[in-house]
Amino acid sequence: PARRVTPGDLDGKRIVISAGGTREPLDPVRYLGNRSSGKQGVALAEAAAARGAVVVLVAANLEVPAPEHVELRLVSSAADLERAMNVAAGDADVIIMAAAVADYRPAEVRADKIKKDDTGDTLVLTLVRNPDILAGLAAAKKPGQVVIGFAAETETDPDRLLGLGREKAARKGCDYLVLNRVGWTEGFASERNAVRVLDSRGDIVIEASGSKMSVAERILDLLR
Ligand code: CTP
Ligand code: CA
Repeated sequence: PARRVTPGDLDGKRIVISAGGTREPLDPVRYLGNRSSGKQGVALAEAAAARGAVVVLVAANLEVPAPEHVELRLVSSAADLERAMNVAAGDADVIIMAAAVADYRPAEVRADKIKKDDTGDTLVLTLVRNPDILAGLAAAKKPGQVVIGFAAETETDPDRLLGLGREKAARKGCDYLVLNRVGWTEGFASERNAVRVLDSRGDIVIEASGSKMSVAERILDLLR
């Protein structure tokens, strides 16, 4: 079943969530990727479905199993993700962009495997900017729709981190921005998360830390 029937405080809300990390193809056997596991987005999808929401999970290369009771749409590249989000956004009440989207993709996808002998000791790749999916969804927002973005930053100073989050919130035009620090050992594969959620004015509306499931529940409280 696509949906659990137990009523909850998000009963009937249509929530579209992207999760995971995109892969940008380089040739038939290689891609440029990132370390997003998809855990936080999957936790949001699972928690939202358990609270009665009708959830579409747009999943990019998840490293964790997708939850039950959601409609799953599998994507891989940023271009795939953008198409799937634009389709799903049509009748969504809430859009959450938890996926880590590649900012750049190879300018050219080679039809055949890149061979060392044709390439030499160094290989220079030309990358082109991907569209900002979140900014596009926020700009196309329908009345009443709520758009939530994430921000991944490696900044260690909490005040400077907040400053970066505020700039990003303003730039994206989303209703809420979930700010979290990432690094070699933080974020991605971790079972835990610590976030501050900013509203469109840059004010902190939530500070939450703990399991990714508990953080998901706090974020969803914004939608009640
Ligand atoms: N995002 C997106 N499309 C992109 C890049 C990012 O929709 N091409 C979304 C992510 O899903 C996330 C938010 O934008 O919800 C912020 O992503 P992040 O990488 O933190 O910010 P960027 O705007 O890409 O800026 P930078 O990576 O330079 O910090
Ligand atoms: Ca980025």
